[in-house]
Amino acid sequence: MPGLVLRAELAAAEVGMPLRRTGTGPSCCLPDAGRFLAMLAAGCTGGTIGESGTGVGYGAAWIASAMPADCRLVTVESDETRVAAARRVFADEPRVEVIHGDAAVELISHAPFDLLFADGGRQPPDIVELLRVGGRLVCDDVTPMELLPADSPFRLSDPKREFFFRNPRLVATEVVLPDRRNSLLVGTRTV
Ligand SMILES: C[S@@+](CC[C@H](N)C(=O)[O-])C[C@H]1O[C@@H](n2cnc3c(N)ncnc32)[C@H](O)[C@@H]1O
Repeated sequence: MPGLVLRAELAAAEVGMPLRRTGTGPSCCLPDAGRFLAMLAAGCTGGTIGESGTGVGYGAAWIASAMPADCRLVTVESDETRVAAARRVFADEPRVEVIHGDAAVELISHAPFDLLFADGGRQPPDIVELLRVGGRLVCDDVTPMELLPADSPFRLSDPKREFFFRNPRLVATEVVLPDRRNSLLVGTRTV
């Protein structure tokens, strides 16, 4: 486990942010999601990575641990306590900027992104426009279709899946994580 990730785990415990989804309030991304983000971040040479919803910096820690030396990460969090915790996690990491504010507003001036992890609240109005062509958009907290109850309305219409799979500027896929209980949606901007 990268050292920054361990620091973020401690920060989560300090501010009472759960490492796993509990159904009440926000939680950190899953370790397998973090590892997937790290894998993508490792290819962002000379690039800029963005994140909406830092939390205490758990996903950001995976990203920052893997991104090339000439890459930077801009992550935005609206909750003051979590911002302070994340800034402590990245106190020795000048390539990571933790911004306090509304990601829908703050991310725009840092685009274009090579990788964007959309993980908090309101998203920028045209999020695909914030990617450079070839850049990747990632979204977590998706339940694999076969685990949805038979009568789940998400079987017929799921706004997250529709956004990724119907977007003419994205080539998208769903990645089921090794626990087989959670998925990510990932899209690459083509035009
Ligand atoms: C699921 S958690 C983020 C987890 C984090 N990305 C990680 O990987 O550990 C969502 C976070 O988004 C934040 N949030 C909600 N709305 C936001 C907004 N409009 N701008 C920035 N952050 C927001 C919440 O305060 C919360 O900390």
